[in-house]
Amino acid sequence: MTTEVIILAAGQGSRMKSRLPKVLHKIAGKAMLQHVIDSALAIGAEKLHVVVGHGSEQVKQTIQNQVNWVEQTEQLGTGHAVKQALPFLSQENICLILYGDVPLVDTKTLENLVKHVKPNTLALLTANLDDPSGYGRIIRDKNEGFVQSIVEQKDASPDQLEVKEVNTGIMAVDGRHLFKWLPQLRNNNASQEYYLTDIIRMAVSENVEIMVTHPVDKLEIKGANNREELASLERWFQQKKAKDLMISGATLQDPDRIDIRGELSCGQDVTIDINCLFEGNVTLADNVSIGANCSIKNTSIDEGTIIHPNTIIEDAIIGTNVNVGPFARIRPGTQLANESKVGNFVEMKKTIVGEGSKINHLSYVGDANLGRNVNVGAGTITCNYDGVNKFDTKIGDEVFVGSNTSLVAPVVIGNKSTIGAGSIITKSVDESQLAVARGRQKNIDGWQRPKKSK
Ligand code: UD1
Ligand code: MG
Repeated sequence: MTTEVIILAAGQGSRMKSRLPKVLHKIAGKAMLQHVIDSALAIGAEKLHVVVGHGSEQVKQTIQNQVNWVEQTEQLGTGHAVKQALPFLSQENICLILYGDVPLVDTKTLENLVKHVKPNTLALLTANLDDPSGYGRIIRDKNEGFVQSIVEQKDASPDQLEVKEVNTGIMAVDGRHLFKWLPQLRNNNASQEYYLTDIIRMAVSENVEIMVTHPVDKLEIKGANNREELASLERWFQQKKAKDLMISGATLQDPDRIDIRGELSCGQDVTIDINCLFEGNVTLADNVSIGANCSIKNTSIDEGTIIHPNTIIEDAIIGTNVNVGPFARIRPGTQLANESKVGNFVEMKKTIVGEGSKINHLSYVGDANLGRNVNVGAGTITCNYDGVNKFDTKIGDEVFVGSNTSLVAPVVIGNKSTIGAGSIITKSVDESQLAVARGRQKNIDGWQRPKKSK
């Protein structure tokens, strides 16, 4: 049977105290709703229906996936929300219900839940919590222990409030049952809402068995209702990621001081010092070392390379045994070949650096292509922009660029040529030439310094 997923995301989330709809608040750099959509896709859901209401336009603009957007103009309860999706569901499919503000449910938990759906069962994800407050309670038969109903906190008796087993809100059932039960929901309860949870009682009365499953980890089922809860979900998620990295052979100087917003894959014996941020897809090969306070985005770094502290790298490809930083900024489109070196206070953009080349200090190199074994002196600038257009600089193999040189692009510097320090290079230089483009030094004998007037 195929699985369709309904994600409830229409609620306001007023406790976030935000103009941003709640489900667009981020965990690990990704909207909570996007986490839920990605999990649904990961378990092979065929169709996604997302019920939206508050801030629906913003939600629809943010999420790029192909989903069926279902409008719930008035938020009359979770049962009412699911009912809005009914016209788009097929009766023959399994229907899995997820919440847009419960973003970290493990795909194994969901797969296990869906496995328990049969034509005559309803699969319900519950958890036993030390502090069950706020959740609907699972009411079981006193003698035989089967699930009878779910009672919301507001409607519960003192006895029922003692129950520690809670409804996570996540359930899966044959579509045909939803078609039958949802129209029968009534709102005669403390909140005057149409509770989805009332379908449990209907199932029981029709001898549909309630199959209870539990999450792999209790924290998966936590929602984020305010920013404090959001932050604690974020920390838990990051700790999990850090743990996975360590288990697979990376050394983290402090697993509480790393942030991964995307996918970080590490080879063996990678070491990562404190306060590093990884975004998008980052690959670190064996023996890569990342210094403290680095920020690395969408980049692959090959074996043995050392990124020194306080370096920022984005959309770059870095070879083996390269040294970068400290305090380097590598901007998109940069490729550093094996054994190259980019030192402190160097900014690079859309630049290819050949094997063994060095740009060690205080330079800006943009829209440039450097050959092998080039040495770029301190304070070198590629003047790649005339205020309107960008131009390229090409530097051949084994070129020596003296310190404080301006290379006014477009310009080509031939192999093995030398540029004298302090030059402003506006014309191309041929192979093996020396180019000097600066005022000649004059030395004046017996120069009298001006004296201070009284
Ligand atoms: C719900 C469950 C409760 C469970 C808890 C778990 C019901 C009646 N109660 O309670 O048993 O323990 O979740 O977190 O189902 N939503 C809509 N439209 C609506 C109402 C809600 O889309 O009209 C969405 C919300 O945006 C949210 C989700 O449904 O994502 C849950 O709604 P919420 O109001 O948080 O339900 P709870 O009272 O927490
Ligand atoms: Mg809630």
